[in-house]
Amino acid sequence: MAVLPIRITGDSVLHSVAEEVTDFGDSLHTLVDDMFETMREAPGVGLAAPQVGVPLRLFVYNWTDDEGTLWRGVAANPELWISPPRTGEADEDEDSEGCLSLPGERFPVIRSERAILRAVGLDRRPFEIVADGWLARIFQHEFDHLNGVLYVDRLEAGYDKAVAKAIKKQGWGVPGISWLPGEDHLED
Ligand code: NI
Repeated sequence: MAVLPIRITGDSVLHSVAEEVTDFGDSLHTLVDDMFETMREAPGVGLAAPQVGVPLRLFVYNWTDDEGTLWRGVAANPELWISPPRTGEADEDEDSEGCLSLPGERFPVIRSERAILRAVGLDRRPFEIVADGWLARIFQHEFDHLNGVLYVDRLEAGYDKAVAKAIKKQGWGVPGISWLPGEDHLED
């Protein structure tokens, strides 16, 4: 297994719609193994294929809920149904999200409380997960990646300047920038 470089915002693969997975052969298995390793090393609770430069509709996730249940898996060609998001303002404590493609940054974004994920696994078998709370948030975040949407694209007006400032300060927002978990150390 290998740790893969993670693309940073500004790279076109992160801002494009990914393609359906059609080849479930060995190379896909290797990619998924590497994505799990990369997510573990980062560390993160979800990672989408475009983040490692592969424009496919696939993501992995690994998250333990408050009851100690581990939610870990791979979703290929997912569909996602979501409950209507709540209205009001995003909460800095409850709604703050991060993304490995904007490492070290966090901003609050309102998500739907409940989501139903339907996808296929590496064995091409369909599965369904009814998720709420943070797991539903993870699925919405990762699903967005497959449509070229980053969570910062969903922030309320008023955060634009803070995001633009962070991106400029880090020298991001241009193609070809990535970081390698385990090697690159993030600055605060
Ligand atoms: Ni992300």
